[in-house]
Amino acid sequence: MAFGWIDEQAARRRRAGLVRTLRPRAAGTALLDLASNDYLGLARHPEVTEGAARAARTWGGGSTGSRLVTGTTELHAELERELAAFCGFEAALVLSSGYAANLAAVTALAPHGSLIVSDAGNHASLIDGCRLARGTAQVTAHADPDAVRKTLGGHDGPAVAVSDTVFSVDGDAAPLAALAEACREHGAGLVLDDAHGLGVLGDGGRGAPYAAGLAGADDVVVTVTLSKSLGSQGGAVLGPARVIEHLVNTARTFIFDTGLAPAAAGAALAALRLLRREPGRAARAGAVARELHGRLTAAGLEAVRPDAAVVSVRAPSPEQAVRWAADCRAAGLSVGCFRPPSVPDGISRLRLTARADLSGAEIERAVRVIGETRP
Ligand SMILES: Cc1ncc(COP(=O)(O)O)c(C=O)c1O
Repeated sequence: MAFGWIDEQAARRRRAGLVRTLRPRAAGTALLDLASNDYLGLARHPEVTEGAARAARTWGGGSTGSRLVTGTTELHAELERELAAFCGFEAALVLSSGYAANLAAVTALAPHGSLIVSDAGNHASLIDGCRLARGTAQVTAHADPDAVRKTLGGHDGPAVAVSDTVFSVDGDAAPLAALAEACREHGAGLVLDDAHGLGVLGDGGRGAPYAAGLAGADDVVVTVTLSKSLGSQGGAVLGPARVIEHLVNTARTFIFDTGLAPAAAGAALAALRLLRREPGRAARAGAVARELHGRLTAAGLEAVRPDAAVVSVRAPSPEQAVRWAADCRAAGLSVGCFRPPSVPDGISRLRLTARADLSGAEIERAVRVIGETRP
C-alpha cells in the first residue's frame, strides 16, 4: 500500500512516547506564557500590531511575488536599513523566515568544493542549510573552537564555520570570540545565527555578535529571525554589502520565495523602533532568565544557567516531560517541551522563555507550578 511505511513509523513513535500533536490555541488565554519566543513581550504591543495593520492596508495582505519580480517596497528597504544599522552591519536582506535566512546564508556561502564546519548543537535550519549546500559539511563537538580550528586546518579551499550564538535547546552561548579567531587563522568565514541573541544580548539588544565585537566585520555574516524578540515573523541576513548582493543573486530561498508579507515587515519595523526607544527591555529579559534559573535551582530543579533568555529544565524521560508540561498547563502555566528527535543529545527538557514583561509575582508563580508538578 502506498505510504504504508507511515503507519509503521507512527507505531514506533507511539511506543517511544514521541508523538507530536497540535493543540488549539485561543486568542485570549489566562495561561501564563513561558513557552513562546516573545522575549520582549512585543507581539501584542499596540504599536507592533498597528505597524502590521498599517502595512497591510498600504501594501496588501501579501507581497504578491518574489521581490526580484514584483519589486521591493519602501517598507522592506526601511526595515533592512534600520536592522543593519541597529546590529552594526553594512547591509541586510529580509526573507520570509529565519529558517529561509539560514538556508540562504549557508547555501550561498558554501559553494562546491568548500568546507562547512557546523556545531553539533546547531538549529535544524542551519543543519538543513548544510544539507542543501554544495560544500561538504563536517560537524564538530558542541561549542568547541579548537575542534573548529582543527577541522578548518585540514581543508584547502573556501571554508565557513556556522553556529548558533545562543543555542535554542539549552540557552547556552557559543564562544564567539574564540570561534572568530579560529576562523581568521584559516581565512574562513563565520556565519552566526543570532535568533536568540537579537533583542536580548548586546547593548540595548543589538545581539550577540555586537556584544562580541564582531558586528560589521567583513568575514562575519549573521542571520536573525523577526519572530522572537521582534514579535513578528520573518528573517534576515546581515553582513557586508557584497555578501548581501551575492545573496540577492544566488540564494534560492530569496529568489524563489515570495517576499516577506508587508504586515510582518511593518510589525518588525515597529518593534525594532520600540526596542531602540526602550533599550531596557533587553536587559530585563536577561534578568528575568537569571531570576527564573536561580529560583528553579533553589527549588532543587536541574536548570541550565542561561546566557540569554532561554531557561532549560531537565526532565527524566520524554514521557515524563510531556506529562510535566501538560500538568503545568493544567495549572495555568504554558511551557515548552523539548524531546527527541528535536534535541541533539537525547535529553528531554522543559524549555522556558523569560519575557521582559514578566512580573516578580509571575516568576514566583511559574517556579511554584513547575516545582509542584515535577515528575
Ligand atoms: C536558532 C534558531 N534559528 C532559526 C530559527 C527559525 O526562525 P523562524 O521561526 O523565523 O523560521 C529558530 C526558531 O524558530 C531558531 O531557534
